[in-house]
Amino acid sequence: MFRVTRQYRFAASHRLHAAGLSEIENQALYGKCNNPYGHGHNYVVDVSAQGPLDPRSGRALDVRLLDQLMAREVIAPFDRRNLNVEIESLKDVVPTSENLAREICRRLKRNWKTVFPGEWPRLEKVRIFETPRNIIDVRTDEIE
Ligand code: NI
Repeated sequence: MFRVTRQYRFAASHRLHAAGLSEIENQALYGKCNNPYGHGHNYVVDVSAQGPLDPRSGRALDVRLLDQLMAREVIAPFDRRNLNVEIESLKDVVPTSENLAREICRRLKRNWKTVFPGEWPRLEKVRIFETPRNIIDVRTDEIE
């Protein structure tokens, strides 16, 4: 069994602000990330899938298919966007990297079987580098 990880990048802006908290509480909780005008990140997203070697191609994952899926479901809708206002499914949550990872996971899971109809490869993990020091992992089977 192999694990294949493919890396993607997009830039987006956000503001960390919890709707249920006061301005002072938000400031205390998120600090600079609560700046009312937001800030940007160059997000790096690693998508990992597992599968056995396909004897015909010598590969465990057709990365072109994953590229097409990621381009359509993640890069096109998220790149150069404001995550607070331009992504419908993030409007009601704080657009942290945890919530962003969950949303990316959902989009991939929702479309996975259309792109990869066989038993393998299986989507395994999404990892987001919000900054080089801030890295969030989520296993896709833990996300509804
Ligand atoms: Ni941020």
